[in-house]
Amino acid sequence: MSPSETPPSSAPAPASVGKPVTVSTLKAMKQRGERITMLTAYDFPTARWLDESGIDVLLVGDSLGMVVQGKTTTVPVSVRDMIYHGEMVARAARRAMVMVDLPFPHGQLGPRATLRVAARIMKRTLCQAIKLEGGAEQAETIATLVNAGIPVMAHVGLRPQSVHALGGYKVMRDAERVLHDAKCAEQAGAFGILVECVPSDLARRLSSEVKVPTIGIGAGPHCDGQVLVTHDMLGLTSGYVPKFVRPWANLGRDMKQAFTAYRDSVQAGTFPDAGESFQ
Ligand code: KIV
Repeated sequence: MSPSETPPSSAPAPASVGKPVTVSTLKAMKQRGERITMLTAYDFPTARWLDESGIDVLLVGDSLGMVVQGKTTTVPVSVRDMIYHGEMVARAARRAMVMVDLPFPHGQLGPRATLRVAARIMKRTLCQAIKLEGGAEQAETIATLVNAGIPVMAHVGLRPQSVHALGGYKVMRDAERVLHDAKCAEQAGAFGILVECVPSDLARRLSSEVKVPTIGIGAGPHCDGQVLVTHDMLGLTSGYVPKFVRPWANLGRDMKQAFTAYRDSVQAGTFPDAGESFQ
């Protein structure tokens, strides 16, 4: 189903803000030098606000394991979790492209097994694209998915699903490896490359050496687009927030103020008042 069609539920449809974003839209944006905007989304109301704000791509990231489920890494996230959240996001999106992450280890199971999982996620969520971690070693898998009609974004640089092998979340400075990964993914048919935690100069070089759009996170200003974890940029994350996040809002503080005010009103007997009650 294209995002311009009626969603399969009775959920209220948000106002449309333009033509649906497709892989061709993103490619054309790179060619015109227009920056692509991507943010993570995990639920219907947030996805609706993101879509209405004109964000181009909503990523149902496996970061949901950390910012929604309170886990310490993305490793425990399941396919079922991705489908559960992906369905809600796709139901809300009218213009934005919805992309769902393949959770650990489903992007690494080889071409046929990965295709089965990716297809299941697409059929269940109605998302328009899949993201998987890896580059050079994933070339065959990417090609298999692309040949089956699945738009794939590769994820190079820091790969959070490999955090235990890496010994922590780090800036990835092996330029040859990052460039090789990106080029192999492009050659295999990936329509875009997410680049995480690499030095700005490397991201600049990478973005000029591949034709497909690059989307950076912790990769400086020279990528073709940017992505952040929405909970981080809204100030909803209670733990560690990386230095590349700009806090556009402090919703954690605002929520605490509202909850405290509600508690005080209930305890003082001032809520509900006559206007908030049935006579
Ligand atoms: O899962 C996620 O949210 C990601 C981030 C790097 C954007 O992949």
